[in-house]
Amino acid sequence: MSTSLTTKRSIIGVLSIVFLVVLLIALWKETQRQMPDYKPTPIMDAGTKHCVSCHGEKGVGKVITEQWKESKHAEVGVGCLECHKAEDGDIDGFEHEGQFISTIVTPKDCGRCHNNEVEEFTHSHHADAGMIMGSLDNILAEVIEGHTAFNDGANPAAASGCWQCHGSKVQLLTDEEGNPVKDDNGILKFDPKTWPNTGIGRVNLDGSKGSCSACHNRHHFSVAQVRQPENCGKCHMGPDHPQIEIYQESKHGINFYAHREEMNLDSHPWVVGEGYIAAPTCATCHISATPDQPITHDVGDRISWTLRPKVSEKIDASALAQAEAKGEPLPEGFLTWEERRKNMQNVCKQCHTRAYVDNFYIQYDNVVHLYNEKYGKPALEMMNLLKSTGILTPTNFDENIEWTYFLLWHHEGRRARMGASMMGPDYTQWHGNFELAERMYTEFIPEVKELIENAKKKGNVNEAHQVEVLLNEMLNSELHKWYIGKVNPEEAKKRKAAAATFRQRYSNE
Ligand code: HEC
Ligand code: HEC
Ligand code: HEC
Ligand code: HEC
Ligand code: HEC
Ligand code: HEC
Ligand code: HEC
Ligand code: HEC
Repeated sequence: MSTSLTTKRSIIGVLSIVFLVVLLIALWKETQRQMPDYKPTPIMDAGTKHCVSCHGEKGVGKVITEQWKESKHAEVGVGCLECHKAEDGDIDGFEHEGQFISTIVTPKDCGRCHNNEVEEFTHSHHADAGMIMGSLDNILAEVIEGHTAFNDGANPAAASGCWQCHGSKVQLLTDEEGNPVKDDNGILKFDPKTWPNTGIGRVNLDGSKGSCSACHNRHHFSVAQVRQPENCGKCHMGPDHPQIEIYQESKHGINFYAHREEMNLDSHPWVVGEGYIAAPTCATCHISATPDQPITHDVGDRISWTLRPKVSEKIDASALAQAEAKGEPLPEGFLTWEERRKNMQNVCKQCHTRAYVDNFYIQYDNVVHLYNEKYGKPALEMMNLLKSTGILTPTNFDENIEWTYFLLWHHEGRRARMGASMMGPDYTQWHGNFELAERMYTEFIPEVKELIENAKKKGNVNEAHQVEVLLNEMLNSELHKWYIGKVNPEEAKKRKAAAATFRQRYSNE
């Protein structure tokens, strides 16, 4: 009896200690997990261990391994080979330390696990950004600023400029016979004219388009990094598409920078209005989830206009026209501009009321219409006539007015429209509409007049006359007639009265 009681007691005692130890371990683990910089131990299979045995050392990519170890991929056991292994027949594959691998990990490779993201991305304008060969801008890089054949075909203006954003056509380095060249370690060499490159529409050797690491910097592949505005700002900046500058100017940007720490940028999921409330980032509006919409990797899914061309049109216009011309049905899942606009408005409505958002869109549409009617359409019509009459040579950029026109639509015209689309009033006004007007009235129109005079002098009277008629038509139109002194008397009277009031308030006169 007494022995069994002692045994029972000892058993209970031991069990209590075991229980206490387990509890302490669990508590310790949980506390550790709560630490802000906690990372679970990376899961490394034999393959990854083998890669890391060298690439974990200084000089062979220690940093690459360290970054990978801090990633979600390491946490879930997606190792080096899961991304870098090549399939039989991959032309960029090479034998490396007992494995057949490739250096570039393309969307096709990521698609082995992230099929949805790859599908959406592949259908987006982002994936097509490498197809700029035929564009007017491309003549700049390959002819006017630089030369395709310069330094044995290095094409520097394009390779270090355009392609770093748009994407190169990746090529292997080949010898005289056209065979791929390998280095001393047996590693295939890429043509330095085309790589390194993480342009968003890179044309890859496996036929896939784009580069996921245009946004997702390796080897962290951190969601916090992609959700930051600076991420998009690598490409979306500068005089012809200043989205990051516009964002920084906007109240959305101001609030983001004021409350960056409360944005929960690394949380899962990241839903506007639920996980964070301070401000939207580029990703919030164009990519990330709302309570009603999933994440999209097609950045066109929430856009209704395209603000890039000489004359803006609705984003679905060219696809609709093509489908109609070919008599083909629209692709499955095709979104009309109205549907895309609804998607964006659904983002806004997490923070604003319906009326607020609707009115904003009216203000925005008006700016696009103003640009189209006042500058876009008349200038385009004029340039077409100058070319078709032979007053301008067929060569692009050899005449002043071609530069003037380029700055008008490609720089200032885009800035005005883009400023209005994302609440940047200074880009709409001083970098936009003001410069448009200045370009139009102090350069474009005087240059057209000069071309008319020169054509007359050369005896091309008929051609000169055609241009003169179009110019007069334009100058007599409602939007431009102020320039030739034709002002409606009522309006002039009102303006004069307003000017007097203004002087009274603000000047010492
Ligand atoms: C025995 C050492 C060793 C092992 C094991 C090893 N590597 Fe390497 N790896 C190297 C060296 C050395 C280089 C060349 C580094 C340089 O040129 O700076 C290299 C280069 C590379 C490159 C870059 C090629 C380029 O185009 O620049 C990749 C990608 C790579 N290794 C991936 C892997 C993967 C994946 C594994 C595991 C299957 C692995 N390595 C295993 C030593 C190793
Ligand atoms: C989630 C996929 C992924 C994983 C996992 C991954 N990589 Fe990479 N790695 C990439 C991508 C993407 C690139 C960029 C290639 C490019 O587009 O130029 C890259 C590039 C590289 C390069 C050459 C680039 C340079 O900066 O020199 C090396 C070397 C490399 N990886 C080694 C490794 C090693 C070693 C591991 C495992 C510790 C690993 N990678 C794990 C996706 C991955
Ligand atoms: C072998 C499968 C596999 C491959 C290949 C792969 N991933 Fe992943 N990836 C995963 C898994 C699994 C997760 C974790 C998913 C989760 O937790 O919901 C993940 C997570 C991610 C995340 C989210 C990270 C986070 O912090 O939540 C990103 C971004 C990502 N992958 C991008 C890529 C890119 C880009 C490539 C190609 C360069 C790639 N992955 C290749 C399996 C893969
Ligand atoms: C800093 C990155 C960057 C550089 C450098 C760059 N672009 Fe772009 N480009 C962009 C972005 C971003 C857009 C889209 C802008 C938008 O939608 O507002 C764009 C738009 C374009 C478009 C319009 C595409 C369309 O669908 O209408 C063409 C054409 C183009 N770029 C050609 C070029 C050429 C050619 C060069 C070199 C002379 C070049 N770009 C240099 C980032 C860049
Ligand atoms: C234009 C930038 C951009 C490009 C290019 C891009 N992504 Fe993303 N990706 C993002 C953003 C932003 C997020 C974060 C969305 C969010 O808020 O959760 C994201 C999130 C992800 C996630 C995590 C999704 C989740 O449910 O949490 C995966 C996986 C991923 N991307 C894979 C890819 C792959 C694969 C590619 C290449 C086909 C790619 N991404 C290209 C911007 C990009
Ligand atoms: C590596 C360069 C690069 C990065 C990074 C990048 N973009 Fe772009 N983006 C482009 C280019 C180039 C285009 C124009 C593509 C074309 O039409 O040829 C573009 C076009 C777009 C468009 C217009 C889409 C359409 O269908 O008309 C949107 C919206 C956009 N990007 C949003 C983003 C956002 C948001 C991010 C960050 C999460 C981002 N981009 C990151 C280069 C980039
Ligand atoms: C508050 C939401 C919001 C934020 C934040 C935002 N955008 Fe936009 N973006 C818009 C709206 C709205 C449009 C116009 C949509 C339309 O035409 O229907 C637009 C249009 C665009 C376009 C299309 C331009 C074209 O050529 O057609 C690009 C590119 C773009 N945004 C990139 C960015 C980038 C990069 C950032 C961050 C620096 C950003 N956006 C931040 C709402 C936002
Ligand atoms: C995460 C919340 C959030 C989202 C999403 C959001 N906004 Fe805002 N928005 C704000 C905040 C906060 C302000 C600053 C309010 C103030 O002036 O005090 C603001 C300001 C504005 C302003 C006023 C700008 C000014 O200079 O006074 C407009 C217009 C606007 N937003 C439109 C939009 C539109 C359109 C969308 C969708 C494309 C959108 N917002 C998405 C939070 C948001």
